[in-house]
Amino acid sequence: MPATTASPRSQSPAGRAQAAGPAETIEDRARAAARDAVTRPPGSPDFAALLRQDPEIAGVLLGESARQRDGLQLIAAENFTSTAVLAALGSPLGNKYAEGYPGARHHGGCEIVDLAERIAVERAKALFGAEHANVQAHSGSSAVLAAYAALLRPGDTVLAMSLPHGGHLTHGSPANFSGRWFDFAGYGVDEETGLLDYDAIRALARERRPKAIVCGSISYPRHIDYAAFRDIADETGAYLIADVAHPMGLVAGGAAPSPVPYADVVCATTHKVLRGPRGGMILCGARLAERIDRAVFPFTQGGAQMNAVAAKAVAFAEAATPAFGAYAHQVTANARTLAAALAGQGLAITTGGTDTHLITADSAPLGVDARTARGRLAAAGIVLDTCALPCAEAPGKRGARPTGIRLGTAAVTTQGMGEPEMHRIAELIGAALREDREARAGTASLVHRFPPYPDQD
Ligand SMILES: Cc1ncc(COP(=O)(O)O)c(C=O)c1O
Repeated sequence: MPATTASPRSQSPAGRAQAAGPAETIEDRARAAARDAVTRPPGSPDFAALLRQDPEIAGVLLGESARQRDGLQLIAAENFTSTAVLAALGSPLGNKYAEGYPGARHHGGCEIVDLAERIAVERAKALFGAEHANVQAHSGSSAVLAAYAALLRPGDTVLAMSLPHGGHLTHGSPANFSGRWFDFAGYGVDEETGLLDYDAIRALARERRPKAIVCGSISYPRHIDYAAFRDIADETGAYLIADVAHPMGLVAGGAAPSPVPYADVVCATTHKVLRGPRGGMILCGARLAERIDRAVFPFTQGGAQMNAVAAKAVAFAEAATPAFGAYAHQVTANARTLAAALAGQGLAITTGGTDTHLITADSAPLGVDARTARGRLAAAGIVLDTCALPCAEAPGKRGARPTGIRLGTAAVTTQGMGEPEMHRIAELIGAALREDREARAGTASLVHRFPPYPDQD
């Protein structure tokens, strides 16, 4: 049912667009705004105003924008959102308090933001083929916290990838609520191949009889076999939680298998390959819908961030387009090419390659540890992460090695780079690791051909 709006206050184009007649719908209002060429609602970001009022923070914004444009952004968890997503994010919806869910809020005046959430939920359900979507989670960690809150009690046993093998902090780190409140048992990857060993996971599940099994990782570069995890969960009577913060955008674009048919609950971020605003989301079947919603609000969160919810809706619509499907497939093609080219530069690529946007590599064959590698790359304008590498030959004992680097192709693909540029990136990484002074200039000349926001450059 379309929402109606208040009576007109003004006959100016902008006034007509923002305050319409009693029978006018939100859709009528949007059409009138488009007809009258209203380019932004009152209350939209005004950078000139920020510059006048607070040059210190305006300078930070300018500096960060230049840093993002002038460097090679290879952090696997980052991307460049569209200006449409940023418009929703920086909109007056951020002023609105909206505790609760559409039609059942603890605050007045929610009828319009309710629309944003209903649209976001419907788009998420359609995009991922899920019966239920919660789009309020403030982050990926909040989504996982809510999933645990919905399904577990403190002290319950949970199986998840151990942190040195690629688990996230929310998968049982003692520094995180998860490790403090639940009894986590960590599974790992085969130390020779770097691949998940499903037989070993099944054996661990049989032994520990967990209440839930978490599949998902911050650094596993291969597709996960969700059917195998479902089978293990069914055999041992566990819930299956898929934490697909990383590959969710690939799932949306048809470039990675979907966990939705297999997992009881799917948690994700919206800001990685999915290219939406920074935030989280949860998908589940109708049976768990109410438990998940109550676990988000009121159990673990307060008011929803309606500007972020609207921005998620924009991103879901973008992700449903054929252009996004082509993008997702290009992301994985670029990652495969980059992984092979990096191997040519002497890096040891974990699992021998990648199925996704993500590559992990050992810098040891080049005689540098990961921190040194990251520093040399940063000096050349190349930004990426270090990561744990679960290899048997770790110095001293089994566990995380300091020679892992993690990179991804989501952001550079958004910039329009393709496979020829992946070969160039590998050359630049090799040069930077060898401390070749030419690397900085090479990076600059590459990235300046591919500005992240070409229309505003
Ligand atoms: C697997 C996984 N889970 C959870 C998260 C947490 O997301 P956020 O940083 O939005 O809390 C991440 C972030 O990288 C992740 O990779």
